[in-house]
Amino acid sequence: MKYKIPVNSIEQSKLPKVDINNVPFGRFYSDHMFCADYVDGEWKDFRIVPFGKITMSPANLTLHYGQSVFEGMKASKNEKGNPMLFRLDRHISRLNNSAKRMGMPEFPEDLFFQALHQLVGLDRNWVPDSPNALYIRPFMFAADEFIGVRSSDTYRFIIFTGPVASYYKDPVKLLTAENSIRAAKGGVGAAKTAGNYARTLQPMNEASKKGFDQIMWMSADFKYIQECGTMNLFFIIDGTIITPPTTDGTILEGITRDSFITILENNNYKVEIRPLSIDEVIEAYHNGKLEDVFGSGTAAVVAPVSEITYKDLVMKIPLEGRKISEFLKDELNNIRSGKSQDKYGWIQEVSIENTLEEAI
Ligand code: COI
Repeated sequence: MKYKIPVNSIEQSKLPKVDINNVPFGRFYSDHMFCADYVDGEWKDFRIVPFGKITMSPANLTLHYGQSVFEGMKASKNEKGNPMLFRLDRHISRLNNSAKRMGMPEFPEDLFFQALHQLVGLDRNWVPDSPNALYIRPFMFAADEFIGVRSSDTYRFIIFTGPVASYYKDPVKLLTAENSIRAAKGGVGAAKTAGNYARTLQPMNEASKKGFDQIMWMSADFKYIQECGTMNLFFIIDGTIITPPTTDGTILEGITRDSFITILENNNYKVEIRPLSIDEVIEAYHNGKLEDVFGSGTAAVVAPVSEITYKDLVMKIPLEGRKISEFLKDELNNIRSGKSQDKYGWIQEVSIENTLEEAI
């Protein structure tokens, strides 16, 4: 292996206290985490240490100005019990695009791959049975103790993991945004950065008081559908699968979204990647042609949308007969866990023998 990543193992695993096949999303964390520091213009001090608290100065630049980026990834187990990592190349390139947009340094791809193989190899017993998965959260944040507004000179990069079920337990109800926006052209909508999520929370709190699970974010003129904050969106109208394009930088370039488009096209489904207006959705609904709406994302995989509210109009979308979205969910989970052939070259199997380092 190219990089030396020493391991400081935990003394006692927390695993016996966690029922990994019966967990909610985002509450339990595996035993170890990978850390690296960016100092004097280079990444150094690579290490795997027990998952635990990090200390920082109250003047830490991230806390004040939000210079931070993250990824969300998943590992599943194959029939040999080995963890399988999904689309690592796409995750690191998106992380580095987010970092560039936020004025942060890139993280080396080969170091990212090695760190993930070692970390997930070490905590392999934390990978639950499919469709649950080991969620992997790589993130990078500014480390300078400085409250002037500028890019930090120093950064920390961490990867931690934890067993998860799907993000949404039930079908989701969406409220169409009417007076606040998530992202506009020229902004940071495509970056996985903390502020993109923070800015949705107050409108989301209002929406959840009214019984909605998510807001369907719209373009700045409130005409075109963007995404729903935790997921990209797909619509099936009269047999055609439509998803908004990510080319104007307002929508996150979902890796699950991209995987679904690839799977659909390979199975001869018609996919249109094009702007979709709320007017077109309303018209399809009134004509009985709105067949399916679902969200896609790493955490959620597929989340069926049962209702979209636009002003006073409540569009109820039947949950029965959603063959295409069910197929996508099963096919992706099967590719991830090795039950379906990986014809797209998306999977890297963690080879346990090669990844364990001596504990120090
Ligand atoms: C993911 O799907 O992994 C995400 O990053 C969404 C997250 C904010 C829950």
